[in-house]
Amino acid sequence: MKKTSFENSLHPTVSIRGADVYKGALNRAAQEELLALVRKIVQAAPLYQPVMPSGRKMSVRMSAAGEFGWVSDAKGYRYASVHPLGMPWPAIPELILRLWDQVSGCSRHPECCLINFYSPDARMGMHQDNDERDFTAPVVSISLGDDGLFRVGNTTRGGKTESLWLRSGDIVVLGGEARLAHHGIDRIRAGSSDLLQNGGRLNLTLRVVT
Ligand code: SIN
Ligand code: FE2
Repeated sequence: MKKTSFENSLHPTVSIRGADVYKGALNRAAQEELLALVRKIVQAAPLYQPVMPSGRKMSVRMSAAGEFGWVSDAKGYRYASVHPLGMPWPAIPELILRLWDQVSGCSRHPECCLINFYSPDARMGMHQDNDERDFTAPVVSISLGDDGLFRVGNTTRGGKTESLWLRSGDIVVLGGEARLAHHGIDRIRAGSSDLLQNGGRLNLTLRVVT
């Protein structure tokens, strides 16, 4: 297989409100390799539609790999060691851990690789990633498939925000001051990538949980 682009060193190319963005970090071969790994994960631990504590269904479908998966249901948000359907989460693939090592600047390894699937009409409201114990470890997110409009705000609710289109192969690192920044996905640009056969966007979010 062709050498994946992240075997070379990666450098952030843009910063939005303290979040480092590595535009075009993954070439097509690397994106396809990652997609194949995600397919394997969701074969073992299928995508499901989480329900928010309010009772509303999320528009994003989710699965996970690692010791923990982040789950949401009527009881609330939490990390769980098994899928809502009862199966264990598959291990985080080695390739994804290597990618984390390249961009995280963190000696600990992620314990959760959340998988979000956005159909063209899905979105994710502004939120903070704060169900983890160690905020010195960053959050690393990898985008595959259709473009997603990513919005970053502040550590407190409200205030000024900035947006950026995330494309297939882009990586975002929320670390330091930006670790607890509110962020979300406003919309998906349907048909902007041909990586996923039936369209849509995948986002892999890596986090140290404990
Ligand atoms: C998330 O914040 O959980 C997902 C962000 C993204 O889809 O890029
Ligand atoms: Fe998030």
